Amino acid sequence: MSERSGPKTVVFGVTGGIAAYKAVEVCRRLVDAGVHVVPVLTAGAERFVAKTTFSALASEPVQSSLFDEASPIPHTLLARRADLVVVAPATADFLARYAAGTAGDLLGATLLATRAPVLVCPAMHTEMWEHPSVQENLATLRRRGVEVVPPEAGALAAGDVGVGRLAEPAAIVEAALGLLGAHGDLAGHRVAVSAGGTREPIDPVRHLSNRSSGKQGHALARAALRRGAEVTLVTTVASSLPSHPRLSVVRVDTAAEMEAVMAVEAEKADVIVMAAAVADFRPVAIAPSKLTKDQGIPELVLEKTPDILAGLAARRRPGQVIVGFAAETDEPLARARRKRAAKAVDLMVVNDVSAPGVGFDYDTNAVTIVSAFEDREVPLTSKAVVADTVLDQVVELLADGGPEPSPEGH
Ligand code: PMT
Repeated sequence: MSERSGPKTVVFGVTGGIAAYKAVEVCRRLVDAGVHVVPVLTAGAERFVAKTTFSALASEPVQSSLFDEASPIPHTLLARRADLVVVAPATADFLARYAAGTAGDLLGATLLATRAPVLVCPAMHTEMWEHPSVQENLATLRRRGVEVVPPEAGALAAGDVGVGRLAEPAAIVEAALGLLGAHGDLAGHRVAVSAGGTREPIDPVRHLSNRSSGKQGHALARAALRRGAEVTLVTTVASSLPSHPRLSVVRVDTAAEMEAVMAVEAEKADVIVMAAAVADFRPVAIAPSKLTKDQGIPELVLEKTPDILAGLAARRRPGQVIVGFAAETDEPLARARRKRAAKAVDLMVVNDVSAPGVGFDYDTNAVTIVSAFEDREVPLTSKAVVADTVLDQVVELLADGGPEPSPEGH
């Protein structure tokens, strides 16, 4: 996918379920929002809705065959045109085929060929939705970075009622526009996010590190991207985000590498978020070859690593918003307030990592966002919600024209 001017292109996959009739409304709303929609109907979808309906709404011929004589490789062309692929409704059968990576029809092949973000909107009967194989397929897709608008509870086919009804078209379109960054409150801003625990080598096979999985930092990068920002993710672990035209990923290992990359990013960033767990100490010397037991027990001499966050804050550009995270086990709030003031950052997001479900490696987190003026508590929730709540506060600071001098001592 490439950066292009003009309207964004959504390749809109429709699969074969009764909710396909609602896909017509999704298509119309996307077009109304100024999106260029390219409809792709599966054979199943064509049993429920007519191609003509979609081609008339989208002003674009519907595509449905891998073996279209007009174009010998329709899936690669579609894959490259897409700024986003939306599949609504996504049937249980489609989710299974997508999770397995089959490419037997145009939609499946396009999904394998594309580098664009993908949004799937499942719809099916409650029993099917709750089946472990459907949930596992969805978990696989989510792990690969696919975004999901889950189904809602309500009336289903054949008079049944339960969870499984396709989400409302407005919700699907809002999610799609968010992924396109078309209406994001961070559109036009550059955000640099660090994630994961740094690794400080001892010898060629060992390092000092910590339990950070990178999940909180990746959630922040993902949320910033969805809100329209240009994002650089500086990470010690492989990125869990799908590739995106507004995303750059830089892999680093050590605190020194992270410091060097963040310094370059900070020169252009409007927002810096240090969610990484940077090692505070590193070995003074790295043994050139593997330390072995017959050499006796090694004595590690450690030195302090650079304080990346404090350094970035000391060189901050006018209006730049800087956010740190603090992983604490004792007196979290008091320590976070002191850290925020000492490092001279706008927000210090503190997590008490001794509490269950909080901090390292969990999919959940509970934080308090400490600013110069207030403490905002975010009770245990997903790391995605924590990310959005932090960014809400970042957006407020940006709207105020950047940080204000903080009152003494807080
Ligand atoms: O990655 P996950 O498994 O999802 O876990 C998330 C998390 C617990 C790692 C995250 O929520 C978190 O708390 N990150 C910061 C952890 C940390 O290093 O805290 P700290 O109190 O030691 O550091 C305070 C701040 O200074 C941090 O923003 C840190 O990035 C920064 N720092 C620290 C040391 C150093 N040498 N340079 C720094 O820039």
